[in-house]
Amino acid sequence: MWLLAASVLLAALRAGSAQLSLYGTSVVEKNDCNKTVVLPCYVTDLKQNNENVMSVTWKRQGVTIFFYHGGNKKFNIDPSFSSARFLSKAELIKGVASLVIDSVQATVGNYSCKVTESNSEGEIKMELKNGSGSWFLLMERVGIVSLMCLLVILCVAQLCVIGLKYEIESQRLVYMIVALVIFAVVAGVGAALFIPDGYTVRNQAGLGLIVIPALILVPLQYFMFGIVFDSLLRATLALIGLKLLGFIIAVVGFALCVSACPPLHVSVLIAGLAIMAFASLCSLVYVFFMGSRMKDHPRPGKAVEEPLNDAKGVMLE
Ligand SMILES: *[C@@H]1O[C@H](CO)[C@@H](O)[C@H](O)[C@H]1NC(C)=O
Ligand SMILES: *[C@@H]1O[C@H](CO)[C@@H](O)[C@H](O)[C@H]1NC(C)=O
Ligand SMILES: *[C@@H]1O[C@H](CO)[C@@H](O)[C@H](O)[C@H]1NC(C)=O
Repeated sequence: MWLLAASVLLAALRAGSAQLSLYGTSVVEKNDCNKTVVLPCYVTDLKQNNENVMSVTWKRQGVTIFFYHGGNKKFNIDPSFSSARFLSKAELIKGVASLVIDSVQATVGNYSCKVTESNSEGEIKMELKNGSGSWFLLMERVGIVSLMCLLVILCVAQLCVIGLKYEIESQRLVYMIVALVIFAVVAGVGAALFIPDGYTVRNQAGLGLIVIPALILVPLQYFMFGIVFDSLLRATLALIGLKLLGFIIAVVGFALCVSACPPLHVSVLIAGLAIMAFASLCSLVYVFFMGSRMKDHPRPGKAVEEPLNDAKGVMLE
């Protein structure tokens, strides 16, 4: 009722002036997370609310990109803005002339919206700008990739210690190096796809290539301990378990982040990778000090003990 009274009043005030009043936002920002961009444009004082007497023209930098003629219901859309459509065609008669464009097509620049109703018309301008806001913050991206590098470095260090201090078949060492190189290469490709700004399939796949193949580090740790210790002690099993737990947390974090922009629970993903790195560091220290098959200083009796005695030793500990 009140609205009706207001519009009647407005109509009375504007009688004779062939001018529609439009409003929107003078600056519209889009960021990496916007799949589509909405350019707002509303008419407040339509008199007839009849599509047949209306037309809408959207321009970018003075060039028409979208035209709708209500009389013959025809659209005329520039091919490079083929995704352009009304926010709500049904509400056009209520004055909603806002345009929706896919983000990739919505190039930054100055846009204008012109609406006509019979012989009245109105126009507003707006500037579409690149805004801040991305999938992961730069710092988060750097943190994730650094943790991945740390994981590789700690693994390489462990292999070096094992190679230098323990007796190891060269073939097994080669397998482990190959596994590690595969992980490093895949994760490196992942980092290259993940680091650039954006929320595209490339970025998502990149993050996946960093996180998922880290699973390879869990059996790798198992085999490395297998070289160093005659039998797997409780502590080594705990370290392998911790690494696996870190991996599972990282994968859960990845699943939460991959489908949301801005990402949800980045901390879960980072915590998972950090736990894996922590387990790797502890494993390195453990291998450095505790191995039972050292080349130079075998721990007394350990190397010649039967596995059975070893197991007893564990239980007595
Ligand atoms: C982009 O998305 C944000 C919310 O994520 C929204 O507030 C903003 O209006 C969108 N920008 C455009 C131009 O649609
Ligand atoms: C849009 O217009 C504003 C002023 O009206 C101007 O400062 C700006 O440079 C223009 N943007 C582009 C992309 O032409
Ligand atoms: C806006 O961002 C897009 C990519 O997101 C880029 O291609 C374009 O050059 C940027 N434009 C400006 C004016 O910064």
